[in-house]
Amino acid sequence: MEKKNLDWANLGFNYMTTDYRYVSNYKDGKWDDGAIVTDSTVTLNECAGVFQYSQSCFEGLKAYTTEDGHIVCFRPDLNASRMKDSCERLEMPVFPEDRFVEAVEQVVKANAAWVPPFGSGATLYIRPYMIATNAVIGVKPADEYQFRILVTPVGPYFKGGAKPITIRVSDFDRAAPHGTGHIKAGLNYAMSLHAIVDAHAKGFDENMYLDPATRTYVEETGGANFIFITKDGKFVTPKSDSILPSITRRSLMVVAEKYLNMPVEHRQVKFSEVKDFEECGLCGTAAVISPIGKIVDHGEEICIPSGMEEMGPYTRKLYDTLTGIQMGEIEGPEGWVHTIM
Ligand code: PLP
Ligand code: COI
Repeated sequence: MEKKNLDWANLGFNYMTTDYRYVSNYKDGKWDDGAIVTDSTVTLNECAGVFQYSQSCFEGLKAYTTEDGHIVCFRPDLNASRMKDSCERLEMPVFPEDRFVEAVEQVVKANAAWVPPFGSGATLYIRPYMIATNAVIGVKPADEYQFRILVTPVGPYFKGGAKPITIRVSDFDRAAPHGTGHIKAGLNYAMSLHAIVDAHAKGFDENMYLDPATRTYVEETGGANFIFITKDGKFVTPKSDSILPSITRRSLMVVAEKYLNMPVEHRQVKFSEVKDFEECGLCGTAAVISPIGKIVDHGEEICIPSGMEEMGPYTRKLYDTLTGIQMGEIEGPEGWVHTIM
């Protein structure tokens, strides 16, 4: 299989139309067989549930080329199970978890020429999603849905790759207490768009959201969880019912404890503690690990001791070990690396 002729090393985190996508439709209480198709457009009734009441949810994972030329992805079973949780909370039908993983395999295989080569710094981003497709005008769940998976080759989420970023404490919330912050609903991202546009306009890379009820605990950003390292080398990551359970974060907790012998604390993190951490980063599929150099709280700067030039040494080890496992250079725990071909 010949790879596409792309400038792999200089891709940003952007959408590019690839050759194939996976589509399955839900009607009369059941999912059809699903298929790989070439048409990248979706035509829907003007009153489709997704347009009126935002019934949509999605997932994100990546496929990698390993050094020995295999194509793999990372813990797709956890994306399948998180999508199940999203669907249940949004009154959408669950796409069976085993079929979700098979569909990921099919669409990546079909687009193998788009999977960036080993060592290029790029990966194939896989975006499974579900939308309500039939007309609804009264506020209620739709009866018909479409599950799709698109793939697109991507580079780093933040320009500058591993350079530390500057974030600000947001005055807007991305999620409500007892709301939908813990699932991957499209509406959560709509909620965050004004805050991110405003943050960018003011020169910040991202927003740090605090807990919406008391504004005293750290939650997450619009698209990634936080990790912190204490001065004595502990790995600390916020716990809350309104943040998305990041698969990267859950994996890093294991990497820290089992591979790097770091004590791990998954607990509520007070914003007032942040100034005492030695290193700080964002983690997620798109972000991988992005180091944070500075956090600005209404004009008051918290400068993270690891600085604005590069990742701190613990973050670097976490990054190298995680990406080493994902790319097949380091043996991962059983079931983490899922070989597609
Ligand atoms: N938090 C939010 C709000 C996200 O959108 C994402 C991205 O998926 C994450 C965290 C990171 O989750 P994961 O590591 O599963 O990609
Ligand atoms: C991901 O990391 O996969 C996400 O969905 C985050 C998104 C904001 C790009």
